[in-house]
Amino acid sequence: MRILLGQTLHYVANPFEGPPEEAVRHERRGAVAIADGKIAAVGPADDIRAAHPGAEVTDYGDALISPGFIDAHAHYPQTAIIASWGKRLIDWLNAFTFPEEMRFGDAAYAHEIAARYFDLTLAAGTTTTVSYCTIHPESVDAYFTEARRRGLRALGGKTCMDRNAPDGLRDTAETAHDQSRALLEKWHGVDRLGYVITPRFAPTSTPEQLEALGALWADHPEVLMQTHLSEQTEEIAWVAELFPEARDYLDVYDRFGLVGKGALMGHSIHLGPRERARLKEAGASLIHCPTSNTFIGSGLFDMAGLMAEGQTVGLATDTGGGSSFSMLRTMAAAYEVGQLRGTALHPAQLWWLATQGSARALHLDDRIGTLAPGMEADLAVVDLASTPAIAQRAARADDLWQAVFPTIMMGDDRAVVAVYVGGALVNI
Ligand code: GUN
Ligand code: ZN
Repeated sequence: MRILLGQTLHYVANPFEGPPEEAVRHERRGAVAIADGKIAAVGPADDIRAAHPGAEVTDYGDALISPGFIDAHAHYPQTAIIASWGKRLIDWLNAFTFPEEMRFGDAAYAHEIAARYFDLTLAAGTTTTVSYCTIHPESVDAYFTEARRRGLRALGGKTCMDRNAPDGLRDTAETAHDQSRALLEKWHGVDRLGYVITPRFAPTSTPEQLEALGALWADHPEVLMQTHLSEQTEEIAWVAELFPEARDYLDVYDRFGLVGKGALMGHSIHLGPRERARLKEAGASLIHCPTSNTFIGSGLFDMAGLMAEGQTVGLATDTGGGSSFSMLRTMAAAYEVGQLRGTALHPAQLWWLATQGSARALHLDDRIGTLAPGMEADLAVVDLASTPAIAQRAARADDLWQAVFPTIMMGDDRAVVAVYVGGALVNI
């Protein structure tokens, strides 16, 4: 048994469904006990220590022991082209993304970038990622192999595209189906890995490919499905041209059985009332990617409105359309997007989105995202005074959230002082 000492917090309710502060229980001097890769106990430090006198104790002082962050939408193959200047979505894909993704048929390169990606995300305190790979099965093998080596709970899948992508970066309806199925059978449920069926987005799939992937999902309802939905206005107009028979963007996916519980709809910014009602009815998850939405100039996600109508929402970097690997920076961007829409998201809501909220969106909230006995011991220990600028502001804090908010707004990987994966301390 190992005991970590520090500040702890856990949620007793959804902070979007009542006063945010009341959704949280906080221990100023708390402890998390870990045994066999799981959280064994959480509570006041004195109680936990007294209950386990032989345990090895690590004292993190005033640092906050949090569930590891959960990044619900990312593209690990875009690691090396993050922060590419000057384009909106479609041009950005053609100019930067597709040429880079072309390289992932080379297994050695795919492994190099996957390893780099997990180094960067772990350093940022992220312990679960949900990633698009490329059309190449090698890119999926590299992602899962590197995740498994690190003991991570990680999700991902082969990105399928059979049109509107360059030569060398297209599969077919049939190979998309067959390769996805083979990778699903190879990786889903191995250790802590999960496969995700991944049509990139409507413009890069023929109706035949969407149909084939809908059929695969029907055969394997135990896995998640991820795609992009209503990110940019030009994209939406293009989808309307490509699928004139569809009522709206969501209906394209719906016609092929790709809207349901377990669907992760990246971005979901420009939605009509019919689409919102259908997403809610289907129990699909909407994944908010705020640094990407401002970086590529996509628009402002309606967090307050969507939460008020009871949608399931996760938070994500969308690396490398997103401009950061850090979920702290991502929380800050979500706050800024909220402000631009006239709603100040509370720090308790932001932290929840990056942990338990994303876990719920992935239907993994019974295993990760919460400090509670029985949960997998994926933890990020966060210093709330990691730089002089943050420390001098946090020193003025009157309560927990005033102490946490400067780290949300100004923190980066320097704030993450320790990371545990499956109860083991990771070298970051
Ligand atoms: N839409 C389709 N592909 C992508 C991608 O790689 N990044 C983003 N941000 N949007 C997309
Ligand atoms: Zn994306």
